[in-house]
Amino acid sequence: MSQTQNIQWFPGHMTKTRRQMEKEIALVDAVAEIVDARIPASSRNPDIPKLLGKKPMLIVLNKCDMADANATNEWIKWFEGRGISAIALDCRSGKGVNQFVPKVKDMLREKIKANTEKGMAGKPLRLMVVGIPNVGKSTFINRMAGANKAKTENRPGVTRGSQWFAVDRQLELLDTPGILWPKFDDITVGEHLAFTGAIKDNVMDIELLGMRLLETLSISYKAELTKRYGELDFGLEPYDLLCCLAKKRGMVIRGGEYDTLRASAMLLEEFRNCKIGNITLERVE
Ligand code: G4P
Repeated sequence: MSQTQNIQWFPGHMTKTRRQMEKEIALVDAVAEIVDARIPASSRNPDIPKLLGKKPMLIVLNKCDMADANATNEWIKWFEGRGISAIALDCRSGKGVNQFVPKVKDMLREKIKANTEKGMAGKPLRLMVVGIPNVGKSTFINRMAGANKAKTENRPGVTRGSQWFAVDRQLELLDTPGILWPKFDDITVGEHLAFTGAIKDNVMDIELLGMRLLETLSISYKAELTKRYGELDFGLEPYDLLCCLAKKRGMVIRGGEYDTLRASAMLLEEFRNCKIGNITLERVE
């Protein structure tokens, strides 16, 4: 589990990170934002588009092994249709990672052309990698660059703690230490981050969370729920639907009541481990 998950998001951190990023964006050719393919909207940082200026942006839909492949393709088209490059990766297994370098080169073809015209054809491209905690930013950097820390002499402007990693001789990644935040004034965003485990369970009401997840899944993933748990009555109110799930799993407590807390914890755990299926909680508009 990422250590950054233990650090609180609070305004002081946010301002510091924002300023640091503003400074460092000037040092790179583009920004790659790592997002969770199951929740591509909620796992984004709301300020990045403003901080970018005119620099190109690549969205990495990470954890695509856990997401719904059709939805991931729709998201790629959606981003590309808005002038944002996008690729889907599974950084844990390494699936799709070969697409990364060609995608970056395609995104920065104008820059490469300009460098070549200036007689600097071999100049490495530089990319800042950003992402809210738990999207897999460290896994991504490890996968792309391993321990290949680039030489950092003669590089003014880089904040203490920031590190350059060489993917190859033509591409370097800048990892900044600041914690980026999601759009957490939005309840749905908070819920979706909690469903995927990006926000720790011990600050959440598990029973309520499980009930909301069940309600959410019963909109687009009825077939998957039925396959996993048997026939559920989707016409029921959310709490009664959770009771129905507890009943299916024989989760009963003394007095014959359904153990909805256990059912909720089980549902969350099975969702996070992809036992219900490959699921994307957010669709393109
Ligand atoms: P961060 O730097 O953005 O905070 O995230 P980090 O790389 O620490 O990854 C967070 C969790 O997500 C890790 O799991 C990591 O293995 C997992 N992960 C990263 N990329 C992928 C991916 O493409 N697919 C899947 N399925 N998982 C991915 P963890 O349970 O916290 O740790 P561990 O069990 O891997 O040790």
